[in-house]
Amino acid sequence: TGFLPGPIILLGAPGVGKGTQAKLLMAKFGIPQISTGDILRDNIARKTELGREAKARMDHGHLVEDEIVNGMVAQRLNAQDTEGGFILDGYPRTTAQASYIERLRCSDEGGDKVSLSLPFVAINIVVDETELLKRITGRRICPSGHIYNIYSNPPKRENVCDVDGSPLEQRTDDTEQAFHKRMDEYRAKTAPVIAYFNDKGHLFRQVDGSQPVEQVSSAIVEMLRHLRGKAQV
Ligand code: AP5
Repeated sequence: TGFLPGPIILLGAPGVGKGTQAKLLMAKFGIPQISTGDILRDNIARKTELGREAKARMDHGHLVEDEIVNGMVAQRLNAQDTEGGFILDGYPRTTAQASYIERLRCSDEGGDKVSLSLPFVAINIVVDETELLKRITGRRICPSGHIYNIYSNPPKRENVCDVDGSPLEQRTDDTEQAFHKRMDEYRAKTAPVIAYFNDKGHLFRQVDGSQPVEQVSSAIVEMLRHLRGKAQV
């Protein structure tokens, strides 16, 4: 992963394609995707105390408390597989979370992990709201995480995962009502995180997420290549 200029943060509103792009980057660069949404949903499925606490907030489109997600991320970053880099998907979502992860990067708590000694590469994916609603209501997921969309990326057999044959599900927060609440939360609490990373000496870039999946992915990889080239100069 010497190619990457630093650990990646994928920013963007609900449904812009953070999870889809994170999985492609993970496959291309062999670094893990750390999705706070996936970790929370896994806790809900396993009926942990954390999952029970988070479920109602998530179903209604509210953010989960900063302390909970910060703790989850710090714990996940302790794992060895983050040594050569990682992709944060859906985190940080508030300026308090952004300053927490930044403190972790700069403090001894991050240990001597090479990936945490580099600046973050924050990539903001942008898609207009009408398209986002269509993506959210059209999304279908399989329990092991493969993502489909009935409009743009339907499975070969209706409601069945192409990869492992599992029945597909709709996320409980992928309703129109919860989407609007998630957008309110995004505008109020997450949009300021963009300014945070655009302002603090990090590498910040914006990408048009309205193009087809492969084109968005190529644009991100090209951007990383360019940033890496600049970092080496
Ligand atoms: P989370 O799971 O992070 O949800 P989100 O940010 O709302 O993002 P999504 O997962 O909905 O979308 P995405 O951008 O990953 O898009 P995807 O690739 O799936 O969070 C859920 C909840 O957990 C939050 O509301 C909150 O309660 C809690 N939470 C999580 N993190 C938290 C944090 N840090 N702090 C506090 N609370 C937190 O794509 C969407 C659809 O579009 C798919 O169907 C896909 O196939 C399709 N698609 C993707 N790309 C394209 C394309 N280019 N063209 C056409 N279709 C596309």
